[in-house]
Amino acid sequence: MRLTNLRVNDLKTALGVGNKVYFSWVIESENEHNILQTAYQITVSDAESIVWNSGKIDSEQSIGIMYEGAQLKSSREYRWQVIVWDNCGHKMNGTGSFETAILDKNEWKAKWAESNLARKVFAAGFGNQQGSTLFRKEFDLKKKPKKVRAYVTCHGIYQLSINGNRVDDREFAPEHTTYEKYLCYQTYNITKMLHKGRNAVGMEVADGWYSERKAEEGAERNDYAAVLFQILVEYEDSEREIILSDKDVRVSDGAVISAYTYTGELYDARMEQDGWCCTGFNDAAWSDAVEKDYGYNNLVPQEDAPVIPVKRLPVKDVIISPRGETILDFGQNIAGTVEIRCKEPAGTKIGMTMFEVLDKEGNYFDSIFTPASHGQCQKNVYISNGKESVYHSNFVYYGFRYVKIEGIRQINKEDFIAVVLSSNKDKSGDFVCSDRRLNKLYENTVWSQTANMISIPTDCPQREKAGWTGDIAMYCRTACHNEMMTPFLRRWLENLACEQGIYGEVPVVVPYDGRYPSRCEYLKTVEDCPDGMVSSAGWGDAAILVPYEIYHVTGNAAILNYQYDSMKAWADYIIEQSKTHRKGSTLPDEVEEFLWNTGFHFGEWLIPSESEDGYDDDAYEPGQNPFLVCRNTAIYTAPVFGWNSVKKMSETALAVGNEDDAVYYSKIASKMKAAIQKGVIDDNGNMPVEKMGAYALMIYFDLVPERYQKHFSEKLCTIVEQRNYHLDTGFLSTPFLLDALCKIGRTDLAYKILLQDTVPSWLYEVEKGATTVWESWYSYDKEENPLEMSFNHYAYGCVAEWMYRYIGGIDMLEIGYKKIRICPKPDASITSACRSFKTGYGYVRCNWKKEGDDFQMDVEIPCNTTAEIYLPDGTMKEVGSGKYTCTFSKIEQY
Ligand code: BGC
Repeated sequence: MRLTNLRVNDLKTALGVGNKVYFSWVIESENEHNILQTAYQITVSDAESIVWNSGKIDSEQSIGIMYEGAQLKSSREYRWQVIVWDNCGHKMNGTGSFETAILDKNEWKAKWAESNLARKVFAAGFGNQQGSTLFRKEFDLKKKPKKVRAYVTCHGIYQLSINGNRVDDREFAPEHTTYEKYLCYQTYNITKMLHKGRNAVGMEVADGWYSERKAEEGAERNDYAAVLFQILVEYEDSEREIILSDKDVRVSDGAVISAYTYTGELYDARMEQDGWCCTGFNDAAWSDAVEKDYGYNNLVPQEDAPVIPVKRLPVKDVIISPRGETILDFGQNIAGTVEIRCKEPAGTKIGMTMFEVLDKEGNYFDSIFTPASHGQCQKNVYISNGKESVYHSNFVYYGFRYVKIEGIRQINKEDFIAVVLSSNKDKSGDFVCSDRRLNKLYENTVWSQTANMISIPTDCPQREKAGWTGDIAMYCRTACHNEMMTPFLRRWLENLACEQGIYGEVPVVVPYDGRYPSRCEYLKTVEDCPDGMVSSAGWGDAAILVPYEIYHVTGNAAILNYQYDSMKAWADYIIEQSKTHRKGSTLPDEVEEFLWNTGFHFGEWLIPSESEDGYDDDAYEPGQNPFLVCRNTAIYTAPVFGWNSVKKMSETALAVGNEDDAVYYSKIASKMKAAIQKGVIDDNGNMPVEKMGAYALMIYFDLVPERYQKHFSEKLCTIVEQRNYHLDTGFLSTPFLLDALCKIGRTDLAYKILLQDTVPSWLYEVEKGATTVWESWYSYDKEENPLEMSFNHYAYGCVAEWMYRYIGGIDMLEIGYKKIRICPKPDASITSACRSFKTGYGYVRCNWKKEGDDFQMDVEIPCNTTAEIYLPDGTMKEVGSGKYTCTFSKIEQY
């Protein structure tokens, strides 16, 4: 018996944490069964004393226990210990530690050092944007340091070096956030990089998301790069010293000539200044930085892991296309960049154009177009200085599988590596079954997740790279079953709260950026347009659904506590919006009052029958601004998602112990449900728009009045049959379709859709050679030409979570898998599956196989949970933790 996985804030490395701290642990046992925690006791201490002793608490809780001790102090290491008692008389203990960041704004002494070098005037097209700026400062240490921490951030995105070496391999610090209110700073342990005597700190800074968000696409960006660093040095004899950024920082232009997220990076190696971040470098030609006072109020320590290279892929194939282009195929669609090794004459321009798919003939194909790029998206140009060098883009990432190469005399496969970038997270699950196509679908989902978790959850890595709220709202449950998402999403949710408007509304992308309509002035022509920002049902619901799903999957209620006000504000916004009556409505007031049926909404988004040309045609004329017209399917998505959010709000209130709120939101949710039943379903028991998703959502969410239940089931099955067992659901109903079918007893239809392999279907993509999940079911036209769509969107990967339950056999009976159901319900064609998932309590595993009449299943249930195991003969057995082996009708412990 032992305690493992002792975590603070779910972090592997708890260096630089903020004020809010929570603890979790896992109980592990090799061979004992039925272990349940009965009590715990946490103590936290700093070098001097105990700052918190929880006392012995009789509780099974081992996830997300919030610190309730004395105010934590800055830059301090705390040690924590937990003692756990269980129902079998064991007493175990474990220890861990964490270190705080700068917790009091008054302790910031560093000054913002800003560049005053001329900025390039922003213009569209590759190579026309601002390049990088170098900042350097030298300083002396009088003794060998014992412990050194650097707290660092910038206006822009930076790479930090000490004495000529990069401090780590992170990219795009200080992360993509709502900078005015929430600018992350990073904490680095640089003890080993400094020495007695002279040292140098260097930072290379580019615009990145920082200045891009400020202006609409194409408009001028005018933020000057600036850095802020505070280095805290502690000597053996406890003496302390701090090194600060200030006006002594020196500034110069870097070798990155132009870097822009939506066009690419242009690098001129001839402009490199050797040794610029080492001591003794002659910076006489450099300028002094300007000291600026931007205050410290927006500074927030980054706790979650940074974007790093998570994999390196070799070239799979070098292709010469029919047009004569030289194309590298890495065999996998990714987000990242290409590392090249080259030795070309000085001045040679090496061009790399990243792209996702080949055209029908096998040539380069640009699947994206943004106004700023002028058709030159995803480019990376390296100008050689004549020396042998290794280069990859510094401040831009790309979404690609293929790279068109220009300017190199001789292509050697070995000289290129695709560097896969992603925010670093722990993997938390595995899935494999007897159907190789489903395995590929699962792998594609995981790849799309990796590619779209770059600092924030994005829609796609090659085109918008934006924090689209609806995409993560619909995908979050699956994401949390693939990786430990909590620290990463917690930071994003805190930014969502920063972006929320005064009415509680949520912008369509978080962090908000100037490319998207925000204010309602854009929507003047929409009837009954609400005040505030553009907020859509299903998208703004991320405010409630994302924290709720994290809680649901991980059992961590701390996250609900932290997001509570933001969640409530969104629920209140929906309730307020519902009060507005739809113009011309003949519904009785008590129905109208509780129906969210006004304002702009995206509707389902990308329903196959509405998007055969790739784009979503749901109720707007071609060429019209989609933001100006309310979509057809919104007539059911808004009321249903509005109700769902309010209902989840009441469950959230209950989970955090706020009973008044729980009652309040639950009452409103009931009225909203009644309003949907009276105001959305027509007198004949039909939905206002005859769509697969319309019926699926109502069934899934238990919104169908009893008298119509049979009719709804028949309707859904009929539509599925009419579509010949193909999908016809968009972003907002796809996650619920298969469950809705299972709920009405038609698991057979769910499998028919899952296993469908002609367009539109999941396996069509797989059969077509997809290595990620596509944005649109129709990403190729009828003649097999690729369309200008993204081939790397995770939203439709949501089906993986259904596969984990129905094929993998692992389902949740109580929040956070405190109680588990083991019950594979495979299609006859699937003969084995193996699923493992790291719950907050530890690993649950289910590995089953059938051969003729033989059935064999190995199951592992983590300590501190219980489970129901269902056998093929229809029997069920309640079990505690431990390992079990099952046959057709028998369960045995082992
Ligand atoms: C994005 C989506 C997003 C949508 C909004 C698209 O351009 O790529 O994933 O949710 O717009 O409807």
